This record gives sequence, structure tokens and C-alpha cells, in this order.
Amino acid sequence: MSSEHVSHGDIVRFGQDRVNLPKDKADEYRAQARRLREKLEGYLDEHPDFTLKKMLLSGSLAKGTALRSLNDIDVGCYISGADAPSDIAALLEYLAERLRKAFPNFSPDQVQPQTYSVTVSFRGSGLDVDIVPILYDGDPQWYGNLVSQDDGSFLKTSIPLHLEFTRKRKSAQETHFAQVVRLVKFWSRNMKRENENFRFKSFMIEMILSQLCDQGLDFSDYPEALQHFFTYVARSNMRERIVFTDYYAAGAVGSFTEPVQIIDPVNAANNVSRLYTGAQADAIVDAALDAGDAIDAALAAPTKQETVYYWQKVFGSSFQV
Ligand SMILES: Nc1ncnc2c1ncn2[C@@H]1O[C@H](COP(=O)(O)OP(=O)(O)OP(=O)(O)O)[C@@H](O)[C@H]1O
Ligand SMILES: [Mg+2]
Repeated sequence: MSSEHVSHGDIVRFGQDRVNLPKDKADEYRAQARRLREKLEGYLDEHPDFTLKKMLLSGSLAKGTALRSLNDIDVGCYISGADAPSDIAALLEYLAERLRKAFPNFSPDQVQPQTYSVTVSFRGSGLDVDIVPILYDGDPQWYGNLVSQDDGSFLKTSIPLHLEFTRKRKSAQETHFAQVVRLVKFWSRNMKRENENFRFKSFMIEMILSQLCDQGLDFSDYPEALQHFFTYVARSNMRERIVFTDYYAAGAVGSFTEPVQIIDPVNAANNVSRLYTGAQADAIVDAALDAGDAIDAALAAPTKQETVYYWQKVFGSSFQV
């Protein structure tokens, strides 16, 4: 193997220039979410019985794994369960109506229910904030019923524990864990661009990489770490169950019948990949085989031009060194 023409350092630069959300943008968007959260806190101080209890930045912006192409800010909103509607459309109307109360300086049309969330749009600068309802009954670890953005079902989970879970892996391999997550997400995005039916949820990518991290894989050489990821996906055929024991014992995981089984690290009963069909899993495996072959070819290619050609098969034509 040789990385004479495209080195680890080149992939580092590609990450910084093309893949990662720049830090100043991430800070700006986090501040935007924080201002909304503080507005809600201010309203709650004056209306302690208000049923929106807390807003929390979630998703890639919270985890430090966002791509440059980020197009909205994910925020979870805890709604006390008792009198909230359980019908999803009614729940979103309810959430929108309460948010309009708490944010009186937004015009009502800036707060709009979508299919499974409520969007708060900012005039002028900033991204839209996508607010996802979480039905909440006062659990101290902030477990609640999160509305799935994939199909609107309720998923029992805890966002703060997810953030803690990811923080652990990030600090086990500083910089590198988060960077490899971003690179694999970027690859997946490129696959989606080539094939509109391709699906590979970011949270699943992150869980696969978390398992490889826990097994002691070194992420500090990016071509090698990527190759390990693709090799794992191909070898496992996406049919190996992935379980973590940070928050429950392995024995607590029951039996699932779905082809892909990546179990929520904070809830043994929640299969994060339950919606994936065998055909979709096969498509991921095929794409990983192609990517692995392309990296092998890149590492063996005799000229820089050929090397770049193979890396572009992985990352698309925006890959340049
Ligand atoms: N099926 C699920 N079960 C439990 N929690 C989930 C599930 N899907 C998403 N989540 C929660 O939502 C968060 C965001 O997930 P998502 O797959 O959108 O990834 P992301 O890190 O925000 O990536 P992207 O940059 O693609 O938006 C996860 O970190 C997790 O806390
Ligand atoms: Mg997201």
C-alpha cells in the first residue's frame, strides 16, 4: 500500500475544505439554537405550568459531526405528556401553537408544522430550526418518546445519553473519530446523489464506527480507517447485530426479526435500523465493496491522476488534492 500520491494529510485537508461544517458556522448555528432555548426558559420562568419543558440541540450539530451541507438545525423539544395529543398531526399543531406563544416576536407564519417536526424560520440570516417533539414524563435522564423523522412513530430514547455516548468515543480518539464519521457520511451523501434509492442513516454510520472504535480500531490514518469501515460493512453483510453495553447489559436485548439490527445504545428495545429492508442493506454492502476496491486501487495507482480518479469514486468529483 502506498499513499504517495494522495496521503492521509491530503484527506485531512479535503475534510477541512470540503466536508466539515466550518467551526465559525457551527458556533453561529449553535448560538442561534441557544437563543431559542433561552427564550423558552425565560417564558417558563414566568409561566411555570407551560407544557413545553425544555429545548435541546440534538443531531450532528450537537455531536460535532455536521457536514458543510447541513441545512437545518435539529432541536428536540420536551412536551409534558399528560395533555399533549398523541395523534401526530394534532401534536405538531399543538407544538406550533405553543412555540408561537413562547416566541411572540416571531410572526405566526415563521412557525410551521411539517410532516414530523415544526420549523422555525429566521428572516435573513441563519438556518431554519427544525423542532422535533419528544413526549416527556419527567424522567431524570430525559428519556422520552421522540417522534421518528423517518416515519412519525414514537421512539423511546434519550438525546442527552446519546450525546454522552458519542462524547465518549470522541474523547477516546480525539479529532479522528468525529472526522471519520464525517468522511463516511460524506461518502454516503455522494452515494445518495448517484442513486436516489440509496439510504444509509447517519446515526447507523455513527453506531458502526462506534463499535469499531470500541474494538480498538485506530482512526488516526484516514485512508486506513475508511478501509476498515468498508471492510466491516462488506464482511458483516450488514446482518450482524450491533449492541453496546454502556447503558444496559447485552442480555437485555431481545430478539428482533428485521434484517439490519443496530440497537439504540440507550434503549435495548429500539432497533435504530428497523426500517431497512434486505435490499437496502444489500445496496449498502455493494456500495461499500466498491468504495473498498476504489481505495485499494487508489493506494496502488502509479500516477497522481489515477489516484485522484479512484478517490473520486469514493467522494465524488469535488475530491481534489
Ligand atoms: N431510530 C432512532 N432511534 C433513536 N434515536 C434516534 C433515531 N434516529 C435518530 N435518532 C436521534 O436523532 C439524532 C440525529 O440522527 P440523524 O441520523 O439525523 O443523524 P445526524 O447526526 O443529525 O446526521 P445528519 O448530519 O445526517 O443530520 C441522533 O443522534 C439520535 O439522538
Ligand atoms: Mg441531523
